[in-house]
Amino acid sequence: MKGKKISFIGGGNMAEAMLRGLLKRKIIAPKQLLVSEPRGERTRFLSQKYRILVTSDNKAAARFGEIIILAVKPQIIKGVLQEIAGAVTSKQVIISIVAGITIAFIASQIGKDKRIVRTMPNTPSQIGEGAIALCGGGRATPNDIRVARELFAAVGTTLIIPETHMDAVTGLSGSGPAYIFLIIEALTDGGVQMGLPRDVAQSLVLQTIIGSGRMVLETGDHPSKLKDLVTSPGGTTIAGLHVLEENGIRGALINAVVAASERSRELSQALND
Ligand SMILES: NC(=O)c1ccc[n+]([C@@H]2O[C@H](COP(=O)([O-])OP(=O)(O)OC[C@H]3O[C@@H](n4cnc5c(N)ncnc54)[C@H](OP(=O)(O)O)[C@@H]3O)[C@@H](O)[C@H]2O)c1
Repeated sequence: MKGKKISFIGGGNMAEAMLRGLLKRKIIAPKQLLVSEPRGERTRFLSQKYRILVTSDNKAAARFGEIIILAVKPQIIKGVLQEIAGAVTSKQVIISIVAGITIAFIASQIGKDKRIVRTMPNTPSQIGEGAIALCGGGRATPNDIRVARELFAAVGTTLIIPETHMDAVTGLSGSGPAYIFLIIEALTDGGVQMGLPRDVAQSLVLQTIIGSGRMVLETGDHPSKLKDLVTSPGGTTIAGLHVLEENGIRGALINAVVAASERSRELSQALND
């Protein structure tokens, strides 16, 4: 990223998470970053806290960066793209984090010759623990994808996917934090029901979820193998698992991902019309 300039169009939660990660890891210096944002209060906050450059002029931001990160809400992206279209050239890389907006739609507004990378981060990116899927448009070079990956590695784990998988990613890792928050809450309630103080129950749940995830990651073992290792014959774990299976937990989680992915496809179709 040596000397590379990056513009963010939209300086909300996700833009701040990214620039914070990039600055913290010293991937980029404050003077290399420009955020465009309509609200003066917000630009003042960002420039004071991070010492980055700010503007309320999207066109100026579009001219500034070799990399332009689109970080506005999906509902206003069309107007923003039309606003910056004349300022963007095919020498720049456009990276979108706008949920549901396709590469074809972005290209239709700013030109089919433009180098576009589409990404789908999730909310844990705000603490550097995101899951971020990326895909490149026809004009994006392998180096554009590599650069985008390097930027998003500042806020989490990156994976390259075909664009056709974006709705599934949205239904899985995009909506996934909400599923896990619900599971955290419910397991904690289970501990409380059995007499544990809530803070103790929640701490146990959190470390159990973090530890189990890390264990799958670090051993590389199939989750069913790790599950079997803690499930002794006639023991406590099989009694608990039996109840989960009786209540259809697998089907419920699979159906949740299917429903969220289908809803993503519907919303995306409406946005890209
Ligand atoms: N947050 C996540 O975890 C997450 C995950 C995946 C994808 N995304 C995507 O990331 C994008 C940004 O999400 P977010 O959570 O960061 O939303 P956000 O906090 O609402 O940020 C959007 C920012 O854009 C600003 N803005 C509004 N109109 C603008 C304009 N015409 N030109 C430039 N900036 C403008 C908003 O300012 P005002 O507040 O003044 O309107 C706001 O600061 C969305 O498209 C979302 O789908 C977010």
